[in-house]
Amino acid sequence: MRIYKVGGAVRDRLLGKPVTDIDWVVVGATTEEMLAKGFRPVGADFPVFLHPKSGEEYALARTERKSGRGYGGFTFHASPEVTLEEDLIRRDLTINAMAEDDQQNLTDPYHGQRDLEARLLRHVSPAFAEDPLRVLRVARFAARYAALGFTVAPETLELMRQLSESGELEALTPERSWKEISRALMEDQPQVFVEVLRACGALKVLMPEVDALFGVPQPPAHHPEIDTGAHTLSVLQQAATHKQPLTVRWACLLHDLGKGLTPEEEWPRHIAHEFKGLKLIKAVNERFKVPRDCQELALLVGEYHTHGHRALELKPSTLLELLQSFDIYRRPQRFEEFIAACEMDARGREGLEERSYPQADYLRGAATAARSVAVQPLLEKGFKGPELGEAIKRERLKALKAYKETAST
Ligand code: CTP
Repeated sequence: MRIYKVGGAVRDRLLGKPVTDIDWVVVGATTEEMLAKGFRPVGADFPVFLHPKSGEEYALARTERKSGRGYGGFTFHASPEVTLEEDLIRRDLTINAMAEDDQQNLTDPYHGQRDLEARLLRHVSPAFAEDPLRVLRVARFAARYAALGFTVAPETLELMRQLSESGELEALTPERSWKEISRALMEDQPQVFVEVLRACGALKVLMPEVDALFGVPQPPAHHPEIDTGAHTLSVLQQAATHKQPLTVRWACLLHDLGKGLTPEEEWPRHIAHEFKGLKLIKAVNERFKVPRDCQELALLVGEYHTHGHRALELKPSTLLELLQSFDIYRRPQRFEEFIAACEMDARGREGLEERSYPQADYLRGAATAARSVAVQPLLEKGFKGPELGEAIKRERLKALKAYKETAST
C-alpha cells in the first residue's frame, strides 16, 4: 500500500499558499485492508475513507467511468491494480493532478507544475467531461487565483463551452451548484467567476437572468459604465474588496435583474425594475436552494435598493415603511447588510468607487430614531392590540420627522 498527498494540498504548497485540508490517495490497497487498519468508510460503495485519528480523506486510487447523466450517473472502479497515473488522469485540472509522497517527491505526469508556472488552468484529459460541476470549479479557481495571474487555457474553455451546450449542467443538483457558487462568491475576485461562466456559455444556462444583463444600457449620467452586466460585476467586486459576507455578495449579484426585462424602447431607463426583478430573484434563489438568509436579503435589496440611494429624500412615512419592511427591531443585522449592499451598488460604478455614501449613516440614524420609541409609556396609557400597534407607528413617525429635521439642519 502506497499513500500520497494529492490535489489542493500539493497545489497550494507549490503556490506557497496555506494548506487547509489534505486529501490522500491510496494505491495498491483493498477496501478490506483499509477497514482492517481502522479507516472508516465514507459511503456504502464509495471508495473513500476517513483516517481513524486525523479524520482526513483517504481515497483508493480509482478510475471513473460515466454510466449515465448527471452526478448520480457515476460508477467507480477502484482496485489495487489502479495506478497513481490512472487515478490522476481522471482529475479536473493539471494543477490539481499532482501527487506527493512522504518525502515530498512529486509525481506530476500531466505537467501541473509547468501550468502552475504558466498560470494556466488546464484540464488533464477528456475525462474532465465526466463531471459537469467542473465547469463551475474551473470558474471558481479562476476567481481565486486571478490575482496571481491565472487564466483558463483556451482548450479548457472550449471544453467547458461544449459541456455547457450539451445540457449536462442542468443535471447538476442545486446543492452541488450552490456549494461552488457560494465558495466562488467568497473569493477575492468573485466577478471573475461570473466572467468565466459567461465566456463559456455556462452563465446563460445556470443564471440566464444575470447573463441577460450584459448588453443592457443604463443612463450614463448615473452609470458611467453604462452596461448593466459590467455594473453588476463591479458591484460584486466592491463587495469583495469591502469583505462583505455571502448574503451581501449574493444580493449584489441579483439586485438589478429587473433591468434585463426592460423593453428596448424604454432603454436606458428602467422604470420599476426593482419590483419587476423580484420574480427573477425568486427563481434564481429557488433554482439553487439558496439558504434562507441569502434569499431574503437578495429580495429585500432587489426591492428597496433605490430607496436606499434616495434615503435623504424619502418622506418620513416612506422611511418608516422601509424600516418596517426590514423588521429592524428584531433583525438589526439584516438592515446593516441592506445598507452595505446599497453602498456597494453605489460604488460599483465607473469612476465613483471612492465617492462617499452619506445614505449609510443617514439610514442607521433613522433606524436608531425609530427604535428609540419606548413601548412602555404607551402600554401605561392603556393601548393594546391593533391600537397599540398604531400608536407605536405614530410615535415612530414622529421620531423620524424629528430626525429628518435635525439631519437637514
Ligand atoms: N476533483 C476533481 N473533480 C471534482 C472534484 C475534485 O478532479 N469535481 C479532484 C481534484 O484533483 C481536486 C481533488 O479532487 O484537487 C480534491 O478536491 P477538493 O477537495 O474538492 O478541491 P481542492 O482541489 O482541494 O480545492 P479547494 O482548495 O477548493 O478545496
